[in-house]
Amino acid sequence: MARQLEEQIAGRFPVGQRLRVLDVGMGQGTQALRLARAGHQVTGVEKDPRMLGAAREALAAEPEGIRARVRLFESDGRDTGVHFLPCSFDVVLCHGVLMYVELPDALLAGLARMLAPGGLLSLLVRNGDALAMRSGLAGNWAGALGAFDSDSYTNRLGLDVRADRLSALTGTLAGIGAPLHAWYGVRVFTDTASDEAEVPSDVDALLAVEERAGRTDPYRQVAALLHLCGVRG
Ligand SMILES: C[S@@+](CC[C@H](N)C(=O)[O-])C[C@H]1O[C@@H](n2cnc3c(N)ncnc32)[C@H](O)[C@@H]1O
Repeated sequence: MARQLEEQIAGRFPVGQRLRVLDVGMGQGTQALRLARAGHQVTGVEKDPRMLGAAREALAAEPEGIRARVRLFESDGRDTGVHFLPCSFDVVLCHGVLMYVELPDALLAGLARMLAPGGLLSLLVRNGDALAMRSGLAGNWAGALGAFDSDSYTNRLGLDVRADRLSALTGTLAGIGAPLHAWYGVRVFTDTASDEAEVPSDVDALLAVEERAGRTDPYRQVAALLHLCGVRG
């Protein structure tokens, strides 16, 4: 994700420009902190107080110069328009959040409104076109068969959550004035790894393969997750 995001940022904005970044559903703040360390002004929004606490703790360990560039808010995203003015961000991230949102169009439209013209909307969603892959690769044939016609899946927390299809989101992004500019697959080969799996010693090679597959057809089409990048017109 970090590398794909860097590629999109480098392709859109002048080198060294301090960008205004909004990360909705930032979790423990991995991308938010990384972007703040890179010199950007970051606003993080998170609805789960425990995750927000983890992000605050991680931020507290950063040097003062970085802490000063980050603001964190507890919010569920529906009321982000209350806090933030239209066109007030250059980059808006919404990673791993749409799965939990019943009606995503309103959230996405709100996020697009907060983007300045030319700004980047970066979404990470579960790939609804490839839901049978996970069960199939695990040898769960009944699960795989059921997944072909489904728009939801059971995540690692045991929750039934939504998946999104590239064609539908392409239409939504066009409709909210932030048409699709680029897209990547994420976790093409590694989605079946367990949460407890150790980071392998050849992680650099693993990332190189994932990164290549994530930008290459047909591999990216069956990735577990899709990274969609829309650009505000
Ligand atoms: C799967 S995690 C992803 C965290 C982070 N964005 C990442 O990519 O590592 C999803 C996070 O989104 C948060 N979340 C879900 N719905 C949200 C909403 N409507 N507004 C704000 N945060 C939300 C959850 O509490 C959770 O921390």
